Amino acid sequence: MEHDERLDVLRSLPKVELHRHLEGAMRLRTQWELGRARRINLPLSSPEALAPFVTWSEGEPRSLKHFLTKFRGDWWGSYKDVERVVREEVEDAAREGVVHLELRFSPENLSRTGKLRAEAAMQAVAEAGQEAGEEHGVGVRYLVTLVRERQDDDLWRRFIDHAVALHELGVVGVDLAGDEFDHPNHEFVRAFERVRDTGVLGVTIHAGEGTSPEHVRSAVELLGAQRIGHGLEAARHPGVIGLLVEKKVALELCPVSNYQTGCVDDLSAHPLPQLDQAGVRVTLNADDPAIHRTGLLDNYDVAVSRWGYLLDDLLRLERNSVQAAFLDEPARAKLLEKVEAGYRACAGQGLNGGPTDAPSGSR
Ligand code: HPA
Ligand code: ZN
Repeated sequence: MEHDERLDVLRSLPKVELHRHLEGAMRLRTQWELGRARRINLPLSSPEALAPFVTWSEGEPRSLKHFLTKFRGDWWGSYKDVERVVREEVEDAAREGVVHLELRFSPENLSRTGKLRAEAAMQAVAEAGQEAGEEHGVGVRYLVTLVRERQDDDLWRRFIDHAVALHELGVVGVDLAGDEFDHPNHEFVRAFERVRDTGVLGVTIHAGEGTSPEHVRSAVELLGAQRIGHGLEAARHPGVIGLLVEKKVALELCPVSNYQTGCVDDLSAHPLPQLDQAGVRVTLNADDPAIHRTGLLDNYDVAVSRWGYLLDDLLRLERNSVQAAFLDEPARAKLLEKVEAGYRACAGQGLNGGPTDAPSGSR
């Protein structure tokens, strides 16, 4: 099957995306327009002039530290900017066949220009997302991202309290992101106790992304992670694999991102299939499609073209995502039915395994 034909089949499958950053999913053109409006100090003669500062391309260093330099907080001039970006991102996800999207964002990042209040920005994200979700047929939920290198107890307490206040609007969890090399999990025990004490917010932790299996273990044991962002280092340690299986902790894997941050040198040797075989609840996600300059479908294409995954295998991953979504049980059952029905409808189309063309933006 040709690459484009395969992408059409993959697009038609109902997908659940658990790991996508609002800041990393902004269309390049929108970043450029917002950057021009705010006269930010970057080349802005065209979107492509801006691209090297906000996207990754082959030949650049492949490390988490370098990758994180692409995240910027200087776009935001008004709440309308936030609403626009959220609407566009929900539309983009819908175009790739996403039916349930958990969109994460840092309130601190949205308020960094001094133009927006963090709490009001959180509300703007949730309201715009609900509206766009209804328009495009996507169930949208939100995760509040806390950034390791910007720990601030008072600020984080406010974010967590406000996440609870916005729970009815779809704020369902808290994420920990940023540099896990210099800011390891033990620094965040109290913050995540507070998150768990709310009783309504799920916990997902970026961990084991080029660090070590112990970072995955401590995310689970010290911070109470129900899901791990990436976590691919777990594959190196049978004991940590066992912990993930026993506790049904899901891994939010993002193969293209994992290549660009240097966690894997060759996507054919990505540990997802190994972890899948071991019984870990593995899921496929996009992470930062605008920075990677690839979409969610490219990550699914890796599974098919590099690992020989067929429709049944993709359905298994999708079921994992449904089980790991931060949803109440009636909503989870409804989503599962939608996913199963979509796969039944696609059953005739088939998907060939075996080595095929590499997706763009990755090796
Ligand atoms: N790792 C850590 N922090 C992040 C990432 C990531 O992949 N993406 C955005 N923030
Ligand atoms: Zn991420």
